[in-house]
Amino acid sequence: MTATGARPLRPAEGPDDSLRAAGQAAGCRIGAAVDHAALAGDPRYAATLAREFDALTPENAVKWAEVHPAPGAWRFGPADDLVAFAEAHAMRVKGHVLVWHEQLPAWVGALAAPGALRRALEDHIRTLVSRYAGRVTAWDVVNEAVDDAGSGLRSTLFLERLGPGYLAAAFHAARAADPRARLLYNDYGAEAPGAKADRVHALLGALLDADVPVDGVGLQCHLAAGAGPRPAAVARTVRRLAALGLRVELSELDVGVRAGDREGLRAQAAAYRALLDACLSTGCVDAITVWGVSDGHSWRRREAPLLFDPEYARKPAHGGVLAALRGRARHAAASLVPRGGESRGMQGSR
Ligand code: XIL
Repeated sequence: MTATGARPLRPAEGPDDSLRAAGQAAGCRIGAAVDHAALAGDPRYAATLAREFDALTPENAVKWAEVHPAPGAWRFGPADDLVAFAEAHAMRVKGHVLVWHEQLPAWVGALAAPGALRRALEDHIRTLVSRYAGRVTAWDVVNEAVDDAGSGLRSTLFLERLGPGYLAAAFHAARAADPRARLLYNDYGAEAPGAKADRVHALLGALLDADVPVDGVGLQCHLAAGAGPRPAAVARTVRRLAALGLRVELSELDVGVRAGDREGLRAQAAAYRALLDACLSTGCVDAITVWGVSDGHSWRRREAPLLFDPEYARKPAHGGVLAALRGRARHAAASLVPRGGESRGMQGSR
């Protein structure tokens, strides 16, 4: 990784028509999930990432099975590389993920005694979060804790052995390890109003009432062109969550298409644009992460859901995102024009 690590790539010449420039004007970070092997192995991947994005999330590198495969055994190399790359290119890093029922190593499942599992969980969080304190500025602390029907907490080994208090324990451990990091709850299928969105909202409200340090919520947004929730409905969800006092992120955005023909790509671009227009207009979304850089590395590869094609050419979807960010930036600039002496800029927050 040294070739793409600490040495900054040369900035593009000419006017900056990147997503990151448009995002900065709009007050919204634009991140991508990053695959370590692709970053290390393909200079085009690295160049696209550095040019277009100002935030990154390791796609797998800090998941428990990857980073902590055996008790006391840590594999920090890939995450260290990603953090170094981010620092060399002025990108923010979000850690993903501390507590999740998937991509767990077998040894965690074998911790039958609640006390042993609780100690392992807290040690895992403490070690990881404190190692990157001040460098990884946000963490997905708990991922997908609500069941698909929205009827309650998902039945996982954490719930079964530790009870519902595992969520609070995880957030408290993360806060203690890095008091400055933004701590997030992350989930899917809660984008549109419905039972799951209600349950996620209720869970977050209850955690906040109990003084659990949750700063924000990530709506994953793994969507499909022409089949997803209506953008206005997602915006309603965003406002409702923000009303709890939380920052809201679109955390794993990708929009699949059935056919990668011109029409499909246009529909995909329109879907990205409409979703971002609606969500950015709430003024409550300050970070958007797409779940991968190019279609060639996407976990939904066959649905070509991302902004760059496998050759790293910009797709129409890139233009859709750019247009939404520029629209938001124009609106933000207009609202900064002093009216009666008051400015309505974005407020700083964690
Ligand atoms: C996915 C990765 O993209 C894949 O590379 C991996 O094989 C499985 O996990 N929700 C999440 C992410 O929170 O961590 C998942 O990422 C996609 C769904």
